[in-house]
Amino acid sequence: MPADAPRCFALLPCAGSGSRAGTAQPKQYHPVAGQPLVRHTLAAFAKVPRIARVLVVVAPGDERLDDVEAPIEVAPCGGATRAESVLNGLTHLRASGAAAHDWVLVHDAARCLVTPAQIEALIDACQADAVGGLLALPLADTLKAAAADGRVDATLARADKWLAQTPQMFRLGALRDALAAHAAQGFAGITDEASAIEATGQRPLLVRGSAQNFKVTYPEDFALAEAILGSRGA
Ligand code: C5P
Repeated sequence: MPADAPRCFALLPCAGSGSRAGTAQPKQYHPVAGQPLVRHTLAAFAKVPRIARVLVVVAPGDERLDDVEAPIEVAPCGGATRAESVLNGLTHLRASGAAAHDWVLVHDAARCLVTPAQIEALIDACQADAVGGLLALPLADTLKAAAADGRVDATLARADKWLAQTPQMFRLGALRDALAAHAAQGFAGITDEASAIEATGQRPLLVRGSAQNFKVTYPEDFALAEAILGSRGA
């Protein structure tokens, strides 16, 4: 590999409170298949040799992952929103040796079912791309718009709709600049990395992911995650 060839880093925002999950502690630390959920996520990334470092962004004062070993490291620089946690993590990566042209794969700590093969597929699809891209899934169900009274307002065309997942892979410097542009507005409308890149006029690549790569969000998601991990022999 040439000396200036872009490297791949991973950044896992892990500083949320997970209030929709109904758990006593943040959902990313809730036990699933015998381990805190995020440990499954980290295990998947640690199995991808092309990723040079995996930075986990936790809330200030959170010491739950202090025992991790290289290539995983922890930065207690989580922010008030997911976007702020990601921006702070990108700043940390830049300050600790990552270059602006290096790639970063941002992945929700709470998506513990991602597989090394899916991560590899995203890298394969994006590493020669000018913009980068994200794992996503074509919408399978019919899409309804709701009115304020809880009734259907409209049925929307679904043929061109995809559900955005993570990892999302972009150049570190470009992503940091794209997110920083929204900091003063509290990152309004920026719900993932791709939306920040899109706001700069770029068009990220959609790379087909898997329905199993869902984000553990609601109480019933834990049992499903546990069943899938169990079926894989975790
Ligand atoms: O809450 P949500 O499911 O959207 O969070 C997605 C990911 O972002 C989770 O892994 C969560 O820990 C992380 N997050 C964060 N900092 C926040 C809010 C969420 O790192 N302030």
